[in-house]
Amino acid sequence: MAVSWKSLPNLLCICLLLCATGVVSQKFQLEPLNATALKGSDVQFNATVEGVWQVMAWSVGGLLVLTVSSTGDITSSSLKQYSARLCSSGDSRCVEFTIHNVTRRYSGPVTCTVQGEYGSKTAHLSVQESGTVNIMEGNVTVMQDEQVEFRCITSAWFPIPTVSWTQNGQAVNSNLYNTTSMVDGDSFNSTSVLNFQAVRNTTVECWATVPTLTNPQSSSVLLVVVPKPPDWTVLIAVVVSFTSFALLVLLIIGIIFCYKRRKEKQRNYQDEMSRRVRTQSQISGVSAAGQRQGQVNTGYVPDGQTSVTDSGFSQINGSNTFEMPNAVNSNHAGNAYITVDESGVRKHRHVTIV
Ligand SMILES: *[C@@H]1O[C@H](CO)[C@@H](O)[C@H](O)[C@H]1NC(C)=O
Ligand SMILES: *[C@@H]1O[C@H](CO)[C@@H](O)[C@H](O)[C@H]1NC(C)=O
Ligand SMILES: *[C@@H]1O[C@H](CO)[C@@H](O)[C@H](O)[C@H]1NC(C)=O
Ligand SMILES: *[C@@H]1O[C@H](CO)[C@@H](O)[C@H](O)[C@H]1NC(C)=O
Ligand SMILES: *[C@@H]1O[C@H](CO)[C@@H](O)[C@H](O)[C@H]1NC(C)=O
Repeated sequence: MAVSWKSLPNLLCICLLLCATGVVSQKFQLEPLNATALKGSDVQFNATVEGVWQVMAWSVGGLLVLTVSSTGDITSSSLKQYSARLCSSGDSRCVEFTIHNVTRRYSGPVTCTVQGEYGSKTAHLSVQESGTVNIMEGNVTVMQDEQVEFRCITSAWFPIPTVSWTQNGQAVNSNLYNTTSMVDGDSFNSTSVLNFQAVRNTTVECWATVPTLTNPQSSSVLLVVVPKPPDWTVLIAVVVSFTSFALLVLLIIGIIFCYKRRKEKQRNYQDEMSRRVRTQSQISGVSAAGQRQGQVNTGYVPDGQTSVTDSGFSQINGSNTFEMPNAVNSNHAGNAYITVDESGVRKHRHVTIV
């Protein structure tokens, strides 16, 4: 142990004091020196004394409340409120002192004095108090996505309680609530305000506690969330966009259909045209192939005013044969006759040269 020269006189004083009252620190213990208890509970202190002693006195808040002899005899101002006994029967080395049903009134020093050379020891008692918790709003019904506020009032707590919230048993982020406390006489009231957006049915609980309270106090309410009515503007927007899309699709289909129709018409026209052209060329082909025999006369007209025969001559209806002078041979003073048979198939050429 390092002791500076300056503190030597102090040390000397302490030494003298101890010598005067007797050196007791090793022989007398009080436990605990700091006691915290909840209102209504019992608080115990133990005094352990080495050696022989006769009488022990206990005072609470400066008032003598109980004396106990080393044999275990007790004298008390209130035997209902205070009690003492030997920790184990027949062993006077340890005494257990109890204050029953403590209230805030008992907060303060608790002193044990052992008569003789032991002196006294003082412990400190603080009594905590658990009050009430109440969510003011009670059960709440709101529309979905609405902002809701719950106020939790705690009253008659000592010291200031720790307030927290849960939603469906899950702890709420402390950013979502604010707690303020105020003094109410010798205890505290506090108000905690929780804000959040209503999403689903929720059990909202407010919890308050102080260190000595083993089971925190709570208040519970129900938040009933009513589903939002459908948003008509959204619905209308959806319907309108869907309808216009459908119309667009129909329009496109229509355009494609019309285009196809036109194409088909055009193709039919072209087909018709080419057919006609083919027919015409066939006809001219027939005319050109006039010398060929036995070909079907496609150019045949039923009423037969005129008709093209395989010999290339026009034939007047009703006249089966006709003769014409052969101009080529006319200089030779002869006549050539071409006789066309009625059948038009077999031909007999009679050339008579006169
Ligand atoms: C505790 O003390 C209070 C008043 O201080 C009293 O109303 C209550 O009945 C007592 N309880 C017991 C168990 O003695
Ligand atoms: C809230 O609702 C629950 C369940 O319906 C009910 O038990 C409770 O008493 C209600 N609380 C309040 C404050 O109305
Ligand atoms: C809590 O209080 C602070 C400051 O007064 C404020 O900025 C904050 O928005 C409050 N929070 C809630 C959840 O009320
Ligand atoms: C504390 O709460 C109690 C009970 O709710 C009430 O009567 C009292 O007025 C409150 N005190 C303060 C200072 O708000
Ligand atoms: C909440 O509960 C009520 C009945 O208690 C029910 O009618 C409602 O549909 C529920 N809301 C949601 C969002 O589940």
